[in-house]
Amino acid sequence: MAESPFQTIAWKEEGIIILDQRKLPTRVVYLTCQDPDCVIEAIKTMAIRGAPAIGVAAAMGLALGAQQSKAETREDFLAAFDDLCARFAASRPTAVNLFWAIERMKTIARETSYPAVKSALRETALKILENDIETNRAMGNHGKAVVPRKAAILTHCNAGALATGGFGTALGVIYAAFEEGKEIQVYADETRPVLQGARLTTWELHQHRVPVTLITDNMAGMLMKAKKIDLVIVGADRIAANGDTANKIGTYGVAVLAHHHDIPFYVAAPLSTFDPSLATGEAIPIEYRDEREVVYWGKRRIAPTGVRAFNPAFDVTPHTLISGIITEKGILRPPYRESITRAFA
Ligand code: MRU
Repeated sequence: MAESPFQTIAWKEEGIIILDQRKLPTRVVYLTCQDPDCVIEAIKTMAIRGAPAIGVAAAMGLALGAQQSKAETREDFLAAFDDLCARFAASRPTAVNLFWAIERMKTIARETSYPAVKSALRETALKILENDIETNRAMGNHGKAVVPRKAAILTHCNAGALATGGFGTALGVIYAAFEEGKEIQVYADETRPVLQGARLTTWELHQHRVPVTLITDNMAGMLMKAKKIDLVIVGADRIAANGDTANKIGTYGVAVLAHHHDIPFYVAAPLSTFDPSLATGEAIPIEYRDEREVVYWGKRRIAPTGVRAFNPAFDVTPHTLISGIITEKGILRPPYRESITRAFA
């Protein structure tokens, strides 16, 4: 694939530069964060979103906070750093990559002397970004094997370059198959209520010249029944030890439909998205967001005043509905408890 025409996140002299995804697709605007609070706010308000991208942003935000520390002793530095970690951890609950990145940064902080820790944390954050892109490329290389030469692929939400350091997980597999010359047609679910599919997935596929058709979330079943979908590939926010997978709300419904119509359903996710400490998906914390995301269409209210709305941001797809999990170490197959354990060995 040619150089990406955009960058999701970068650390430059002026600060941490974040492509503001709230403004896409109508405006391409970059935020410049000069302190960690700005990064926390960007995560909470979804200026940056997608599990791996949130992890990268947190690592950079923590490193920026560390660089700005005026602590005179190592103890004071570590106490303030722990507080900052706790504030990042409270920004969004479901994507485990956030906690994975925080833990990695905490380990470096504990193992490095002061003030050398400041540059060590910056190097680690940049490494997390670099590794994420490499990991996505590796997932693409493994995953393209499941894509037929001519394929109509349904995806939900956005698991592309915008949701990661670059290239993407589910869309990374699609880009890799496309690069290889496969004839790809992507169907992008709009993904109510935040419309990551309509606003982000179509935008980035279009930027990369991959043919894409937008559908509303309630059209997938009809397309599957008409044999217009060969394959489903989605990303993940957290995968339990048995393969149960949390991803954007609506993913579970797509998986049930795919199962009913005998269509392969793949999850693409790096090992940093797995949480082997959770036995099943039941234990995955689900984020509930402001009901205004559901009752408003832009600035217009679409339900009578006083009507309440239910707004879980994620659901859990049981492992029994998943054909395979594409990782940087290869494609994991059922039984997942065994294949996931092997991947971590
Ligand atoms: O609420 P979001 O936009 O952060 O949710 C993102 C998703 O659900 C993605 O599918 C997931 O994080 C995988 S990103 C490679």
